[in-house]
Amino acid sequence: MSRVQLRPDPTGHFGAYGGRFVPETLMAPLDELARAYDRFSRKRPFRNRLRALLSDYAGRPTPVYFAERLTEHLGGARIFLKREDLLHTGAHKLNNAIGQALLAQAMGKQRVIAETGAGQHGVASATAAALLGLECCIYMGKEDTVRQHLNVQRMKLLGAEVVAVETGSQTLKDAVNESLRDWVTNVRDTHYILGSVLGPDPYPRMVRDFHRVIGDEAKRQLKRAAKTPLPDIAIACVGGGSNAIGLFTAFLDDRKVRLIGVEAGGRGDGLGEHAARFSGGSLGVLHGTRTYILQDDDGQIASTHSVSAGLDYPAIGPEHALLRDEKRIEYVKATDAEAIAAFHMLAATEGILPALESSHALAHVSKIAPQLPRKHVILVNLSGRGDKDVESVLKWDQEHGDDSSGTGGGGAEPAAAAVAEHPAARKWRSRAPQSESSESSRDQPKTTKGAEA
Ligand SMILES: Cc1ncc(COP(=O)(O)O)c(C=O)c1O
Repeated sequence: MSRVQLRPDPTGHFGAYGGRFVPETLMAPLDELARAYDRFSRKRPFRNRLRALLSDYAGRPTPVYFAERLTEHLGGARIFLKREDLLHTGAHKLNNAIGQALLAQAMGKQRVIAETGAGQHGVASATAAALLGLECCIYMGKEDTVRQHLNVQRMKLLGAEVVAVETGSQTLKDAVNESLRDWVTNVRDTHYILGSVLGPDPYPRMVRDFHRVIGDEAKRQLKRAAKTPLPDIAIACVGGGSNAIGLFTAFLDDRKVRLIGVEAGGRGDGLGEHAARFSGGSLGVLHGTRTYILQDDDGQIASTHSVSAGLDYPAIGPEHALLRDEKRIEYVKATDAEAIAAFHMLAATEGILPALESSHALAHVSKIAPQLPRKHVILVNLSGRGDKDVESVLKWDQEHGDDSSGTGGGGAEPAAAAVAEHPAARKWRSRAPQSESSESSRDQPKTTKGAEA
């Protein structure tokens, strides 16, 4: 039996991490949920329905795509993208949302609630609720409702109520708090669709299991696309950690495959400036699970910052904490500026706008791929598409486009450099009229010019 099937232990612990740290009132609902999940997930009708919805409705399998021009551009290892951005609703989140919504229905619940940061899990949950005829309420930090405005409108159009949470930092952590409050109050008819490998047992294992289809598929597809089932390196961004665990689980027992999780390095190393729990975090309990958390010396949860709402969370999934202790997964970080640069790089080389979350994984790829030989294969989880982030990127470009000194991780320089280095950008520049205004726009990222036009 593989290590994955053994984890967590029967008490919901991943080594020293995980567990169930919740008020007494939530113990019975969590027991009920764990029993229902264990029962239904083994039943053939449930599994068949899930499989059918994931393929016919959601569009699985998502392709593994050889990013040839990106590979050429970086000049090293061959880069393959697992295209979760092509899943219905535009991100991996739907795998889990459909799974949990089906479970809610099987348990006889008529209402689902969910928290969301980037809005993708909210959209996925609202979609699954509409599909199955369930009432739906989404909690979202007020700050996130502003930066992910498009997704708020999508959730509403799908029939969900969206509650803007105005407490705390008004981001994902506060949305989880409100969701837990709602669940305690309405547990009789409500299921809480938690959106990552976080929270009390059974959520971390249940969300992992609903997402492991990503890596299982990729392993089969890579055999055809790269003539090897095993990449040398698999890379994914890590917010709570669901898309990363979804990709990595299939490769955990293949010790030759290097697994790399990329956290949000934000705009600096100080507490409050990033969301990299493994550099600056310490052991604690948040939202029902014991794991690495960004907190101050008194144990108060620290505020976090990331340009991507989906990575902007102070805790990391407990299984990640264990896999890091075991040195099975390496964790690195990418700054806001590096992620924005990677966003531009993929747009310019492959015609794909990646989610800012996924751009963090791509940023790390751009650091390591040039150092590796051409025969090496890097598999990257492209967890979502970037439509939701267009406004944030344009705003960033406008604020940083003329700041050649840079800020934090290098300001606009990496973004400008990634685009400027690319042949498409050189061609674009050589065509630009040599007027005074075009001279001054030369050093600016391509999208800044577009934004001003
Ligand atoms: C596209 C995308 N990727 C990644 C994440 C981060 O979540 P996780 O680490 O659970 O995959 C989010 C969260 O909203 C997201 O929308």
